Amino acid sequence: MAGMTTTLTPPPWSPASWRALPAGQQPAWPDASAVERAQAELRRQPPLVFAGEIRDLRARLAEVAAGEAFLLQGGDCAETFAAFGADTIRDKLKVLLQMAVVLTYGAQLPVVKVGRIAGQFAKPRSVPSETVDGVTLPVYRGDAVNSIDFTEAARTPDPQRLVRVYNQAAATLNLLRAFTRGGFADLTRVHQWNQEFVASSPQGQRYAAVADEIDRALRFLRACGVDVTGDPTFHTVDFWTSHEALLLGYEQALTREDSLTGEWYDCSAHLLWIGERTRDPDGAHVHFLSGVGNPIGVKLGPTTTVDEAAELAKRLNPDQVPGRLTFITRMGAEAAGDALPEIVRGVRDLGIPVVWSCDPMHGNTFISDNGYKTRRFSDVLAELRTFFAVHHAEGTVPGGVHIELTGEDVTECLGGAQEIADLDLAYRYETACDPRLNNQQALELAFGVAQMLRA
Ligand code: PEP
Ligand code: CO
Repeated sequence: MAGMTTTLTPPPWSPASWRALPAGQQPAWPDASAVERAQAELRRQPPLVFAGEIRDLRARLAEVAAGEAFLLQGGDCAETFAAFGADTIRDKLKVLLQMAVVLTYGAQLPVVKVGRIAGQFAKPRSVPSETVDGVTLPVYRGDAVNSIDFTEAARTPDPQRLVRVYNQAAATLNLLRAFTRGGFADLTRVHQWNQEFVASSPQGQRYAAVADEIDRALRFLRACGVDVTGDPTFHTVDFWTSHEALLLGYEQALTREDSLTGEWYDCSAHLLWIGERTRDPDGAHVHFLSGVGNPIGVKLGPTTTVDEAAELAKRLNPDQVPGRLTFITRMGAEAAGDALPEIVRGVRDLGIPVVWSCDPMHGNTFISDNGYKTRRFSDVLAELRTFFAVHHAEGTVPGGVHIELTGEDVTECLGGAQEIADLDLAYRYETACDPRLNNQQALELAFGVAQMLRA
C-alpha cells in the first residue's frame, strides 16, 4: 500500500456506487447470473441487526474514544460451515465474557464486547492461487466463496455460499441474543464461564479468584438492599457482531435505509472493518463504507503512511463523529515502535476523533520450522506493550484490542503459560486460516492487558 496517492473524487454515494471503483480481493465468480440470483435472494432477507443497535454501539465506541470504556473485539480468523454448532458459539462467548470480566475488574472500566462472529466468512489473500504437487487451483477465500478442500470443484467460487453465510450468521446471532439476554451472561454465573479444561490451569485459577471477588461484591450489594435479582444490569450483556466487509456484493445486499432517519446502514453486522489489503482510500471498500452509518474499523499495517491514515480519517469520518471510526493497528511487535508513533501523532493532530485499537496478531504471523502458520504469544504481548507505551507518550487513548481466539483448547499459537512448542502445534491445529489464541492464552492475554491498562 506504500506510496498511494489520492487524486480521485469519489462518485455520489449509493449502495451500488462502489461498483464504479476498483475493488480488490473479489472472487472470480464463474457465472454472473448466479451471483445476481444469490444477491437478489439476500435482498429479500430481513436485516440481521437494526439501525438502533448500530447507533448504540457507535455511542459506546464514543466512550471508548474518550477513554471511558475499553473495546474487546475477538473471535475466529474465519468462521466455517464445518465448525458451526451451539457448543462452539457458546465456548467463544464464554471466553470473551471471561476476558471482559478480567478487564472490567482489573481496569475498572466498562468493556465494549464485539465478536468477530456471525458473518466473518470471507478472507483476503496475498496470492490468488495455490500449487500443490504441480496442481494449481484458486486459493481458498473463506467459506463465503469456496471450500478449503483442494479440488477444482471445491475451489470454484459458488455464490450460493453467500446465502448459506447469511443463514448461519442469522442462527449464530439468534443464539448469541438468547445467551446474552436469557440468563447465561448473568453475573451471578460468572464461575460457570470457566470451562472444565481451563479451571485447573493457572489462568483458570486466577480467573476463579476474580469470580470469587465478584460473588462477594454481589453479596455485599444484596446485603445493602440493592435489587441484584431484579436489575437487568446484572443479568444481561450487550454483545455486538463484526466482520471484515470484504465481499461488497454481500454487504450491498444487506444494506438498508433506516425508516426513522433516512440513513443507510449495513445490517449484516453492527461493526464492519476494512482489511489491510483493501484500505486504498480511492478503492471500492472505503467508498462503500463511507456511506453507511455503522461504526467502521480500518486495519493499518506497518507500511501505512501518515497521509494515508489522514486521508482515511477524512473520508470515513468527515463529520468527526466520535465512535464512528476505529483504527486497528497491526504493525508487528518489531515494527510497532517505529511505525506507530508517527501515525498516531498525524491523526491526533488532524483533530478527527478515532478509537485506537491494537490487533497484535496479524503483524506477528510466521511459518514454524515444522510448517505451521503460527504466532508467538510473547510477540503478541510485546506489540500490546508498545501500543500502550506509544499512546501514553502521545497523549492519545489506547482504546482496545482485536484478537483472533477460540474457546477451544487448540494448539495454534506458540508459548503462553502452557509453553506450546513447535512440535505441539500438530496436536490440535484446527483453524481454516490464521492461528488463534486458545482459551487459556486468551485469558492470559486479558490479565496482561488489564495490567497494562492499570499502569
Ligand atoms: C484478519 O483480520 O483476519 C485479516 C486478514 O487482517 P489484516 O487485514 O489486518 O491482514
Ligand atoms: Co486473520
